[in-house]
Amino acid sequence: MDPLPLHTIIWLVCWSFWLFPFCASSGSRLLPDKPLSAGSTITSDDGTFALGFFSLSSSSTKHYYVGIWYKNIPEDNCVWVANRAMPITDPSSATLAFTSESDLALSDTNGQLLWTTNISAAGNSSSEATGGIATLENNGNFILQSSHGIILWQSFDYPTDTLLPHMNLLPGMNLRLTHKTHALQRLISWRSPQDPSPGNFLYGADPDEFRQRFIWNGSTPYMRGSIWNKNLVVGQYVESIKSTIYYELRTIDDEIYASFGLPVPGVSLLQMKIDYSGKIKTRVWNSSRSKWTDLWSGPNQECNKFGYCGPFGYCDNTQPIVTCKCLDGFEPNNKQDWTASRFSQGCHRMEALRCGQGDGFLNMLTMKVPSQFLYVKNRSLDECIAECTSNCSCTAFTYTNMSIDAINGDETRCLLWIGDLIDMEKLIGQGETLYIRVNGLSDKKGKSIVLKITLPVVSSLLMIICVWLVWICNLGGKQRNKKIWKKLMSGTLSTSVELRDGNMKYPFISFKEIILATNNFSSSNMLGHGGFGNVYKGTLEDSTEIAVKRLSKGSGQGVMEFRNEVILIAKLQHQNLVRLLGFCIHGDEKLLIYEYLSNKSLHAMLFDATRKSMLDWPIRFEIIKGVARGLLYLHQDSRLKIIHRDLKASNILLDAEMCPKISDFGMARIFGGNQQQENTNRVVGTYGYMSPEYVLKGVFSVKSDVYSFGVLLLEIVSGSKISSVLLKADFSSIIAYAWSLWKDGNTKDFVDSPIVGGCSLDETLRCIHIGLLCVQGSPNARPLMSSIVSFLENGDISLPTPKEPMYFVENNYCADGAAENTVNSANTMSITVLEGR
Ligand SMILES: *[C@@H]1O[C@H](CO)[C@@H](O)[C@H](O)[C@H]1NC(C)=O
Ligand SMILES: *[C@@H]1O[C@H](CO)[C@@H](O)[C@H](O)[C@H]1NC(C)=O
Ligand SMILES: *[C@@H]1O[C@H](CO)[C@@H](O)[C@H](O)[C@H]1NC(C)=O
Ligand SMILES: *[C@@H]1O[C@H](CO)[C@@H](O)[C@H](O)[C@H]1NC(C)=O
Ligand SMILES: *[C@@H]1O[C@H](CO)[C@@H](O)[C@H](O)[C@H]1NC(C)=O
Ligand SMILES: *[C@@H]1O[C@H](CO)[C@@H](O)[C@H](O)[C@H]1NC(C)=O
Ligand SMILES: *[C@@H]1O[C@H](CO)[C@@H](O)[C@H](O)[C@H]1NC(C)=O
Repeated sequence: MDPLPLHTIIWLVCWSFWLFPFCASSGSRLLPDKPLSAGSTITSDDGTFALGFFSLSSSSTKHYYVGIWYKNIPEDNCVWVANRAMPITDPSSATLAFTSESDLALSDTNGQLLWTTNISAAGNSSSEATGGIATLENNGNFILQSSHGIILWQSFDYPTDTLLPHMNLLPGMNLRLTHKTHALQRLISWRSPQDPSPGNFLYGADPDEFRQRFIWNGSTPYMRGSIWNKNLVVGQYVESIKSTIYYELRTIDDEIYASFGLPVPGVSLLQMKIDYSGKIKTRVWNSSRSKWTDLWSGPNQECNKFGYCGPFGYCDNTQPIVTCKCLDGFEPNNKQDWTASRFSQGCHRMEALRCGQGDGFLNMLTMKVPSQFLYVKNRSLDECIAECTSNCSCTAFTYTNMSIDAINGDETRCLLWIGDLIDMEKLIGQGETLYIRVNGLSDKKGKSIVLKITLPVVSSLLMIICVWLVWICNLGGKQRNKKIWKKLMSGTLSTSVELRDGNMKYPFISFKEIILATNNFSSSNMLGHGGFGNVYKGTLEDSTEIAVKRLSKGSGQGVMEFRNEVILIAKLQHQNLVRLLGFCIHGDEKLLIYEYLSNKSLHAMLFDATRKSMLDWPIRFEIIKGVARGLLYLHQDSRLKIIHRDLKASNILLDAEMCPKISDFGMARIFGGNQQQENTNRVVGTYGYMSPEYVLKGVFSVKSDVYSFGVLLLEIVSGSKISSVLLKADFSSIIAYAWSLWKDGNTKDFVDSPIVGGCSLDETLRCIHIGLLCVQGSPNARPLMSSIVSFLENGDISLPTPKEPMYFVENNYCADGAAENTVNSANTMSITVLEGR
């Protein structure tokens, strides 16, 4: 072993043990007359980052590098390396020094140039640059400036494997992408934990079709993210650091900037990194454990890897076990392989296309669309359909509005796929609607072929009653009811408390009666299309109008929801809850019967440009109060404690007097007396209304309903859907918008324009305030429904001050590496989104 020179030992020690007292440090600056050599470091003013020579102590061959690291973190702390491909072997007189042309250059003992900022070559030197100075900033950026303060070079423009965050006013790193030149920045992994030289894995945008991101293994795609279709800011609240982390994609002129960061300065040491094994991670330093904690990391499922499910196969992330499936109308190419979880051969069509003779399109919601698309510019939806229909090799298309990030003034986005469809995923609450070409004749088999693309499915329009009617049971009804009730009760109840009640209050209505009443479920009687099936209007022989919810056949979910709804609704009686009139089981048909009313749902009123004028402020306020009372009854006053779990505008029905009725108990849960919260691995609900803790951790409690109520309240006051297109480009949702206005004292701008004139501003502002209290990130901070009801009914009670809510956006820029995997990894749970909007 060669003895190391003393100063080498000192800096090695210095690097391995942070805060080692006799480290030579020359402040935060590197000056032309003071080159940096092994043994000295420069440190950012706040002491977070250090720059200097280092080696990796665990490595067997001693290689030395110049780099930037977190000064106070003892392990895996390197964020940037200058000479990653050209290590120094003998550091004894290697230096980082200014050249006569004001470049910074690293040369080894023999005077060999190992690395340079190379600005002189770019013509950026001479007089302007003389007398340069290099500074290590508090954000980890190493900046080379001319004597006039002009930035000539900065390490942030040359990322290695790590991206540092923006923190409030301190800028962070961006991965930049230039449309015209297709120049782009990438993160490149280390070769191994001991070797910073460029490794196999790269992360960045696709240079050919830069609307998607990839992780590459060498030149092979390893993982692909969803397509970007707009400027995005995605916030994800992280409990452990008590802050929201934002991921952002910004288009400025010809460039796209991808970055991430925190709204507050310096709460955490946070970074995004591609590691040597190809995982892209967002991680935070946990000082109490002295360890890095991965907040997100991906890919974390085999199934998420590029093309894992083969052609026409997709990775289904919505189920507890994430696995490959064939698209509808397709079957595995090799059934044996498929059953043995070898999916790479993919799937093939069960019935050949009949090009030009009645092919149809089958839509799949919330998809990560396949790779390798053709972007057809300037097409309306109809033109896009025609484009795909007219070319027999077109296998699928998707259509999105790109108004926010329009390229060359074209807002439309018609994407077509030719040939095989690869690398699709079914996502949770995000993604695009993908239209897949299929043989139109399979319609006969009951497949949901979309020959004419319909508007997004309008959620259930069923109407319910205020009056309780006594029904007379059918022939033998009582006996049969008991049997059916038993059947219903058998199997595991999806409730926390086993309910037993042989005393069936609700009559069984015969299938024949329903057929007669609904004109054999004729399409002219159809009222709407809910999560688990269609809703029909019907008229019984005695001319009572009813609404019949016909649960989809063979849907496993449907059975559970059916049982749940019948059991639950039988227990409840409140003027703000819907009433069940009866039910019917016939073969595999399952039907729920409610009384019909003509005022439809709040959703149908509030979000309809013409009908919304019927909802003036006094009516809206009554609706708010009614829903609050209904919810309070569910939570506290009924004999059971019930969490609704899917409160939203389409589940609030309005009777003739506009009295609101909470409906759709298919997903409600009954809690035991002392039970406060529950975990589930099956998260169901509607994106946008689901509380963060529910989405992220599967934890729900009465406070999850309070969150949904808050969203509903903001919708009612503003007349905008939670999922509506950004009101202003800066706001990810109406929650963010409401918060921003509230913070600035401009809350009145939030109020829906049709009601502004006729409303009591005090009341509306109070409602917004209450809404903001309900959507706070921490469930404990949200008020209980009992407080909310008194806040609403008594204008004199002073309200607490809300904290800033956390924001969710449906599309997720960091999806591949981050958030969407978190949702899976956190608890291997899945979200079933019941309806697309
Ligand atoms: C400096 O930049 C020039 C032009 O960009 C390039 O040709 C040259 O190889 C670079 N030199 C070093 C040492 O990187
Ligand atoms: C020199 O650097 C400045 C500041 O970074 C930049 O604006 C300018 O375009 C550069 N000039 C050349 C010739 O590269
Ligand atoms: C990356 O590619 C190399 C060579 O092609 C291969 O040996 C390795 O298994 C790949 N790594 C992963 C994680 O797929
Ligand atoms: C650090 O770890 C402790 C113990 O595991 C944990 O309670 C805490 O939330 C963590 N903090 C962060 C910021 O991750
Ligand atoms: C888009 O197409 C329409 C006609 O189909 C044409 O009038 C318009 O100029 C086109 N716009 C762009 C930006 O190409
Ligand atoms: C269908 O589209 C592909 C890709 O644009 C093209 O190569 C092919 O010629 C088209 N076929 C027809 C019949 O238009
Ligand atoms: C896209 O959406 C924006 C905002 O909702 C709307 O103004 C614009 O007309 C839409 N464009 C198209 C082509 O649908």
